[in-house]
Amino acid sequence: MVFDPATLNRAARVLRAVSPELPADAALRRELAAQRALSGAAKQAVVRAVFAYFRWRSWLDARESEQRQLDAALTLQRRFETRPESFKPETLAARAVPVWLHEEMDVPAATLRLWQQEPPLWLRARPGTAAALARELGHCRAPADLPTLAQPWSALCYEGVTDLYRTEAFQRGAFEIQDLASQWVGHVCAARASETWWDACAGEGGKTLHLADLMENKGLLWASDRSLRRLETLRQRCARAGRFNVRTARWEGGERLPTRTRFDGVLVDAPCSGVGTWQRNPHARWTTQPEDVAELAQVQARLLRHAATAVKPGGRLVYAVCTLTRRETVGVADDFTATHPDFVPEVVLPGKPAGLVTLWPHEWRSNGMAVAAWRRR
Ligand SMILES: C[S@@+](CC[C@H](N)C(=O)[O-])C[C@H]1O[C@@H](n2cnc3c(N)ncnc32)[C@H](O)[C@@H]1O
Repeated sequence: MVFDPATLNRAARVLRAVSPELPADAALRRELAAQRALSGAAKQAVVRAVFAYFRWRSWLDARESEQRQLDAALTLQRRFETRPESFKPETLAARAVPVWLHEEMDVPAATLRLWQQEPPLWLRARPGTAAALARELGHCRAPADLPTLAQPWSALCYEGVTDLYRTEAFQRGAFEIQDLASQWVGHVCAARASETWWDACAGEGGKTLHLADLMENKGLLWASDRSLRRLETLRQRCARAGRFNVRTARWEGGERLPTRTRFDGVLVDAPCSGVGTWQRNPHARWTTQPEDVAELAQVQARLLRHAATAVKPGGRLVYAVCTLTRRETVGVADDFTATHPDFVPEVVLPGKPAGLVTLWPHEWRSNGMAVAAWRRR
């Protein structure tokens, strides 16, 4: 074997722990939490091995031991990094993703290539502090060529090996770990201090925190989700970040809304098949099912329809999904536009026409994301 046996053994333990109830990222977190003495670099090596396994799984011989398969996957990863042209586009299309995906979307060859690489780690500094944070953490790079938006980006790409959750900067709430495409969603909302917003599918609060930052910790921001556990994490994150303009409430997506408030803006960051995250989370390529896509498209349409009733006349509705399938993106957005003549589609990315925009992973080296926005007449 070519790679460090201790890393391969740890990664093999993670593979054996993976089950329908415990996806690879959760199994990794559990294994690494149990190995507190490991250095940041050693932990990163385990993460790399496990994700390489799922990225190259169709190339591996399942009859071999986990260690041998992991070693072969890392060897393929190295070959891809040094000689990408040795993998033909047709081979990647056939083996890097499940066959059903091609029924649901046209997969750009450049996206497939990106999905076979290791993902960058994106941070979002508190507004106006990105340069100072970059100096403090080191190994940070500001992304180039991002569009100019109403409020400035505070994104950084972190290229070091330190466990960022253990840094003093993280503990005092100086930044969030947040993908660049998710940061774009916050910028599409462009929430302001004087406004009222509702983050209807707030989850653990990644976008809530961005909205709270853009609103300068003022205004009123409701955050809801059907998961009380996620809302509890959201509250803890708000406390760490010192954000106090957020109110939480449970909402399961029904007609009955958590409040009678009518909002300047409503964000529906809907549950989705997550295809856009397949670089960061390659295990999901093999667990997501085509039936999920059809089912989720119905859930998304329902959430959007109900959440839209909370938008004030003149207010805005933003729909976001970290997936790329036609049904969950243009399918849902076009249907909403056709059935809601009082909601007028808006431009969400400078230079693109009004209506849903798909951000392909290779464009910004980010998750894939689809976003649409409307203004209520
Ligand atoms: C894409 S995630 C949200 C991510 C979050 N906005 C962030 O930026 O961190 C979608 C969320 O929708 C929630 N959800 C799923 N079905 C729902 C439903 N029927 N009603 C309300 N929320 C739902 C999930 O619990 C999940 O937290």
